Amino acid sequence: MGIRKNHTALTADEKARFIAALLQLKANGVYDRYVRQHRDLFNSGIHRSVLFLPWHREFLRRLELDLQAIDASVSLPYWDWTTDRNANSSLWGNDFMGGNGVPSGGAVQNGPFAFGNGRWPLTVRDAPSEPVELTRSLQLSQLPTANTVRSVLASVPYSLFVRNAENQSHNTVHTSIGGAAGTASSPNDPIFFLLHCNVDRLWALWQRQHPDQAAFQGDANFNLNTPLPPWQNEASPPTPGGVIIHAALGYSYDDEVAQPQQIVDLTVGATARQASIGQASERDWYRFLVPAAGIYTLETSGPTDVFMSLFGPNNQTDLVTSDDDSGPAANSRIETQLSAGTYFIQIRHYQASGTGAYGISVNSSVPTGPQPGLPEIQVNGPAQQGSIAAANESDIYTFMVSAAVSHTIITSGSTDTFISLYGPNSQTAFVTQDDDSGPGTNSQIVRVLLPGQYFVRVRHYSPTGTGAYGISVNR
Ligand code: CU
Ligand code: CU
Repeated sequence: MGIRKNHTALTADEKARFIAALLQLKANGVYDRYVRQHRDLFNSGIHRSVLFLPWHREFLRRLELDLQAIDASVSLPYWDWTTDRNANSSLWGNDFMGGNGVPSGGAVQNGPFAFGNGRWPLTVRDAPSEPVELTRSLQLSQLPTANTVRSVLASVPYSLFVRNAENQSHNTVHTSIGGAAGTASSPNDPIFFLLHCNVDRLWALWQRQHPDQAAFQGDANFNLNTPLPPWQNEASPPTPGGVIIHAALGYSYDDEVAQPQQIVDLTVGATARQASIGQASERDWYRFLVPAAGIYTLETSGPTDVFMSLFGPNNQTDLVTSDDDSGPAANSRIETQLSAGTYFIQIRHYQASGTGAYGISVNSSVPTGPQPGLPEIQVNGPAQQGSIAAANESDIYTFMVSAAVSHTIITSGSTDTFISLYGPNSQTAFVTQDDDSGPGTNSQIVRVLLPGQYFVRVRHYSPTGTGAYGISVNR
């Protein structure tokens, strides 16, 4: 898997190889084909639409594969303009992108792409009257700031993120470079690919920051399966759905840390959760809480031949049991006595290459009463102090509601807590849950609750996270 690095992390040799591959792609005419594709589609849905991110991802990946056909060691570098905002940056060095254009006319005078070195004439332009030299007019103080990018990354859902990513950060980068980079033929300036590599990285980052959001949303004109132009006549044309997961395309970014395994919480007694094995060898993980010893039934549903393994209590590696086909058709079913604790379910397809949709549910065969001895939160009293001391730990509290009025359940402190509320008078009747509605990354639930006993489960948002917190209930 190729790793796309910040250009500042490239060695002199890596830079030289990247530049040499670009010059060769220019010399054989392939580079200009990319410039033409971008120019000709400029106003045909690849900008100012939901396709902006997927289309440019595909565009970059194709160019990168062409570069790798010349030199397999090359990956596209990215330019993080939030921190790299100075004309003295190695970005604009003579061994890399070259520098600014001259005041009159904007022609770049140095570096590999200067017209004078004869290897970078702009053959595809918006109009024949446009300069044949690579031009720039840098105004780097105009570059989008870290704050702007932070707010872009906070935008949800995808429909808003894609618009902000394009209009609030990407567009300004083009205009801050000026010259050729400000035209429909902007890939004429190779900085285009470092700029867009960062845009692509931000999409990947956004996906990691918002695992609960759809990574792409269609609109009135385009959907997940829209073939991307100009490749729509290929045998299996690229689509937005096909490029959502960048790692599946064969590259990653140097600032991606290994992601903790995504674990989805299941509630005992809730309706089946719908999911799917989207790719060969995929493993889906679930977690559920057994509040008190009893007999539990774990079942899958649907047409897919899934295989289920149960682990726990309180760790993800102690196998309790596995099952292939004990349920209806090819479904899995486990019915077993469990002691109190947190359990983990792994679902995979029975066949290594199989994919498909399924549902999963957990039910308690014996109604479980509230567990005795839980710490009680006094309504309008002081916060209970607790801590998630180990990965995957969750704490349970109880509180009494005496009148049907609005109650606020809120955590405090610097830990990114996630709370789930159950009741009344049942530790498994799910009410609602919350991640970040409180100050900072604290959780908050505001809700009118009927009288009775309630249960709050507190865990860390991240499966591996730990930390102290306070929790209180007010009305
Ligand atoms: Cu573009
Ligand atoms: Cu662009």
